[in-house]
Amino acid sequence: MDRVVELWMLWATLAVALIIYYLSILTRDSCSARQPPGPHPFPLIGNLLDLRQGHLHHTLARLARIHGPVMRLKLGLTTAVVISSRAAAREAFTRHDRRLAARAFRPSGGVVASHLFTPHGLASARGVREHKVRELVSYFRERARREVEVGHAVYSGVLNLVSNVICSVDVVDVGADSATGLRKLVEDLVELIATPNVSDLYPFLRSLDLQGWRRFAAKHLEKIFSILDGIVHHRVEEVRSSSSKETQNNDFLDALIELMSTGKMARDNVTSILFDVFTTGSDTIAITVEWAMAELLRNPSIMAKARAEIKGVLGDKETIEEPDAGSLPYLQAVVKEAMRLHPVPPNHVAAQGRGGRRRGQPKWTSEGRHFEFIPFGPGRRMCPGLSMAERVVPFILASLLHAFEWRSAGRRVSAEQLDVTEKFTTANVMAVPLRAVPVAIT
Ligand code: HEM
Repeated sequence: MDRVVELWMLWATLAVALIIYYLSILTRDSCSARQPPGPHPFPLIGNLLDLRQGHLHHTLARLARIHGPVMRLKLGLTTAVVISSRAAAREAFTRHDRRLAARAFRPSGGVVASHLFTPHGLASARGVREHKVRELVSYFRERARREVEVGHAVYSGVLNLVSNVICSVDVVDVGADSATGLRKLVEDLVELIATPNVSDLYPFLRSLDLQGWRRFAAKHLEKIFSILDGIVHHRVEEVRSSSSKETQNNDFLDALIELMSTGKMARDNVTSILFDVFTTGSDTIAITVEWAMAELLRNPSIMAKARAEIKGVLGDKETIEEPDAGSLPYLQAVVKEAMRLHPVPPNHVAAQGRGGRRRGQPKWTSEGRHFEFIPFGPGRRMCPGLSMAERVVPFILASLLHAFEWRSAGRRVSAEQLDVTEKFTTANVMAVPLRAVPVAIT
């Protein structure tokens, strides 16, 4: 019943708003001469109808072909500008970067870049990353010749990798349901953030929280934050009860607590930053690995070439190390191609477009300077985890190909039939999670 009342309230408010804003849009239209071109907006709803079908990144690419590389969209009363060419991206993120970076600014990027992913920080956590990737390989080894859900196992392995790099603890057992629980919490939350929110479209309604958005988010955040708060609390106590440096873990959390104890950071910010790094770091790496594996399984000749490269470079070396992945240019190219075909955050899709080139010949760099391929975002908003992701994604993939031969699950499914339909939830994920059979070779 509450839901019905809420819906009526929503419609009634929107109806009144329609009248008021129809009038204001009429007057405002006279000043819109300097706005970029875009599909014709309807009063109040703007271009929402243009975006209602299919995947957002495909729809935006289609609209950009009609309206040009710098396109204006009205999302309710909010104006958005969509950039979809290399030249426009270059201009936006060089000439206007400061202003763009200021949108919804979160403090995590700078702290993460300056304390977690310094060359020294990255080098000193290499052992931890290698250990966690080997645990993941062991997980698959125990299940050799059986069907496994690749993304699920990789996600829990990566959760532990990220949690160990930042705060030296495992948050889940690899492949266990607890990983699904944590992921579900985060997924629900991010899905909520990605859901069209009336208040974003009509900012003057924000204080009413008509969809219960804030209440729902608060409940979820509380659960996730209580897990992270527990980790922070435990560490603070550990540091407090010991004067020696022995208890120091020399991880990111130590650096955050140091900032906190010198008054440079508030306690709440510590948990928020951990939350940012956990949620953005784990998902993106795991989803990228899953897409790369799916594309390799769909393209047996590319898989064979990637495996031949590993064999050629590593020979009979039993245990692969992280820097080895740096000597595998073809494998690195496979990763970039997977990111181009299936951009994890789809708003950073490669400007060159999908299917523009043949598979297996990627030529882009991923540093966000060339603006044709910006999976990590460009300019000031560029992902601070880039240097870790560039090490870890190819390393996981190389480790999985080095240790196993992979077969598609389900005997009657041919390679080309593997379903790579995309689904946009928290990110651009596989609609049908990848299942495959690892056959141990080392
Ligand atoms: C394949 C892997 C990854 C991809 C494709 C990716 C992509 C991105 C993108 C596009 C953004 C910018 C979003 C925006 O414009 O607001 C971003 C931000 C961010 N990423 Fe990544 N990322 C990856 C891995 C990681 C890792 C491994 C970490 C940390 C462990 C990380 C931490 C962050 C954080 C903290 C931000 C927010 C920065 C801020 O708001 O200032 N990412 N990432």
